[in-house]
Amino acid sequence: MAAATSLVFLLLLSPVVAAANTNFTFNGFSNSEKNLTLEGAYIINPTGLLRLTDKSPNFIGHAFYHQPFQMFDKTNSSNQPKASSFSTSFVFAINQPRGGHGGYGLAFTLAPSTKFPGAEAGHFFGLVNKSNDGESSNHIFAVEIDTVNGYKDNIDTEGNHIGINVNGLDSIASKPVAYSKNGTDAMEEFSLKSGNAIRVWIEYDGAKKVVNVTVAPLSKEKPAIPLLVCSIDLTPVLKRSMYVGFSASTGEKASSHYILGWSFAVNGVAPPLNVSQLPKPPPMEKNSSSLKPIIKALIGALSGLAFILLLIFSCFRLYNRYRKFESLEDWELDCPHRFRYNDLHKATKGFKESEMIGVGGFGTVYKGMLSASGNKVAVKRIVRSSIQGMREFAAEIESLGRLRHKNLVNLQGWCKKKNDLLLVYDYIPNGSLDSLLFNPEENFVLDWDQRFNIIKGIAAGLLYLHEEWEQVVIHRDVKTSNVLIDADMNARLGDFGLARLCDHGQMSHTTNVVGTIGYIAPELVRTGQASTSSDVYAYGVLLLEVASGRRPIGSDQFFLVDWVIECYQLSKILDAVDPKLDSVHVVEEVELVLKLGLLCTLHRPDARPTMRQVTRYLNRDDPVPDTSDWGSMSGFSSGFLEPISNSSITTSYNLSSGVMTSSSLHSDR
Ligand SMILES: *[C@@H]1O[C@H](CO)[C@@H](O)[C@H](O)[C@H]1NC(C)=O
Ligand SMILES: *[C@@H]1O[C@H](CO)[C@@H](O)[C@H](O)[C@H]1NC(C)=O
Ligand SMILES: *[C@@H]1O[C@H](CO)[C@@H](O)[C@H](O)[C@H]1NC(C)=O
Ligand SMILES: *[C@@H]1O[C@H](CO)[C@@H](O)[C@H](O)[C@H]1NC(C)=O
Ligand SMILES: *[C@@H]1O[C@H](CO)[C@@H](O)[C@H](O)[C@H]1NC(C)=O
Ligand SMILES: *[C@@H]1O[C@H](CO)[C@@H](O)[C@H](O)[C@H]1NC(C)=O
Ligand SMILES: *[C@@H]1O[C@H](CO)[C@@H](O)[C@H](O)[C@H]1NC(C)=O
Ligand SMILES: *[C@@H]1O[C@H](CO)[C@@H](O)[C@H](O)[C@H]1NC(C)=O
Repeated sequence: MAAATSLVFLLLLSPVVAAANTNFTFNGFSNSEKNLTLEGAYIINPTGLLRLTDKSPNFIGHAFYHQPFQMFDKTNSSNQPKASSFSTSFVFAINQPRGGHGGYGLAFTLAPSTKFPGAEAGHFFGLVNKSNDGESSNHIFAVEIDTVNGYKDNIDTEGNHIGINVNGLDSIASKPVAYSKNGTDAMEEFSLKSGNAIRVWIEYDGAKKVVNVTVAPLSKEKPAIPLLVCSIDLTPVLKRSMYVGFSASTGEKASSHYILGWSFAVNGVAPPLNVSQLPKPPPMEKNSSSLKPIIKALIGALSGLAFILLLIFSCFRLYNRYRKFESLEDWELDCPHRFRYNDLHKATKGFKESEMIGVGGFGTVYKGMLSASGNKVAVKRIVRSSIQGMREFAAEIESLGRLRHKNLVNLQGWCKKKNDLLLVYDYIPNGSLDSLLFNPEENFVLDWDQRFNIIKGIAAGLLYLHEEWEQVVIHRDVKTSNVLIDADMNARLGDFGLARLCDHGQMSHTTNVVGTIGYIAPELVRTGQASTSSDVYAYGVLLLEVASGRRPIGSDQFFLVDWVIECYQLSKILDAVDPKLDSVHVVEEVELVLKLGLLCTLHRPDARPTMRQVTRYLNRDDPVPDTSDWGSMSGFSSGFLEPISNSSITTSYNLSSGVMTSSSLHSDR
């Protein structure tokens, strides 16, 4: 009896923590997007480098393990809880610009959240700012790997030290970077910014309340004597639940900061990293001095006037080739998303017809398998003749490549060869929403829960593009055939940003409006200006399409938006529901989706909700406004459809059933 009670007592006391993860290991980060919360930082697939910052000035990169860890040991009611022991080991590389003077550094961080609102770059490492630096409410523990001295003195000089920080950037212990040789006190200093891989071990002993920090070049064994041994009780610093990860920043001085591998454990020793599996650090940019010995050697080996002439000639060629090689290397450093043409050619079996999985508005899509990583990818091949401004163009694709969201078809990389532009995307197995809705395999019907989940997913993806990324990205071609469905039946929005790319590269001089008939907002036809609200319009049409199972435009002058408005005005909005659902649906949700569809397709762009509001409506955080608030019903109207709703449009739609432009639309009339 007593035993039973105490068992129940114990069960009540021990939280769910027991089942939680207590350690992880990343030998490289290939395809670990799901395991990390990244901001500014991104993973370079397929090499597996995690890049926290590039050499952009005043930039902040964060990478945290996606789940928090329980950092307090289970209490034994008579005792106060205490911070758990933990241990981590990671490998990093810092690439400074040609000629030196990079900055500022990176910090291994334990923090209660993965967001650091208001945090500053430079000396503040993207963790705090001047006003909250050092405040105990921050609950931040960090080990800084700092390459610029002068925090607080405002004099930036070369730095090369490691420090232990609590709640701010004032280190409680700090030493120049060095490792102990051969288990002796003799410390060998070395540079953080060499571009070579460097390993760090950080161990906290919760019982003894001591932090050890050890550092050494990756080629060395773990030194027996730590660089820093610091007595500190982390119990008042940490919170019960903490995120663990890295923060890096650049300022006026900027280096590229990379993590190659990482392991972590609570109440245990961090699992060892497998060095042979780690990605190689990217090559350092070279100085020109390395050429001189070659020239000297050549001069020594050759004699005679003829030979000297020959030598001058070949030196000239060598120099040219060297310069080319060098700029190519620069180029590759700037464009980590660039793939090799040969790899993609091989992956798609030479762009064989049997590997083709679709023809979209912008090009042909092939499936492929990258032999290096074994990953499946979708390769979009765009054949265009005139892409101008290659550098800007590359910058644009590179920036799109950094967009990462679970509801986007992530762009992994790109490649350009002559007139072919190749874009490499995640491979999504279940095809497009369009085909699942309208041409499903036999007897397959998307059920309502799946549809509602897909709708919410697309909204989350669009919200990210519109508001949550560093720049506003307008999709410009939201439609069911651009929504792919992954293995878990989640929506992934594809083809984002392509329209802008086309503008940028001036691939087409005549196209003003890019979009698909049936989804083009009325103001877009008039002004040619795409905006987030024209995306919302297209999303509204898509909502109606998913709920009703009917295409935006049908034969016999059928216009989905007008038809749903009619049903709505007759107070029979449920007549618009897809009959294939067999009335198996949640009435409130269907009504919400149809009403929201109408709200998003309102004629006036400023009357449409933003994607943030749409998300709130879908989550039922706010009710969809009532009709009385929407003004007169004449406010609805798909607008442009009326004046040009003649057969010529319908035929041209049927013929091409793809992307149309307003210029071709006009010429069709
Ligand atoms: C990352 O996530 C995948 C699946 O979600 C899991 O199988 C894998 O173990 C995770 N890796 C780490 C290092 O946590
Ligand atoms: C609980 O605390 C008491 C007194 O501090 C100690 O004797 C005992 O060993 C502790 N039990 C556990 C399971 O830690
Ligand atoms: C390259 O230049 C930097 C800074 O001027 C210098 O520290 C480094 O030693 C040079 N490297 C080589 C290989 O000459
Ligand atoms: C500094 O950070 C705090 C906490 O995140 C934030 O509330 C504050 O607005 C920031 N201050 C500045 C000047 O950015
Ligand atoms: C390293 O230490 C071992 C024994 O501790 C000694 O035999 C060896 O000579 C030392 N090597 C160097 C390079 O100091
Ligand atoms: C920290 O370093 C000291 C001194 O080398 C050592 O005695 C102690 O065991 C180390 N602690 C951990 C947790 O490794
Ligand atoms: C890591 O976690 C697994 C279970 O998640 C456990 O079996 C293993 O012992 C842990 N390893 C360490 C070093 O803590
Ligand atoms: C490290 O990785 C290599 C290559 O994947 C593998 O052959 C080796 O067994 C691994 N070593 C350990 C200790 O896991």
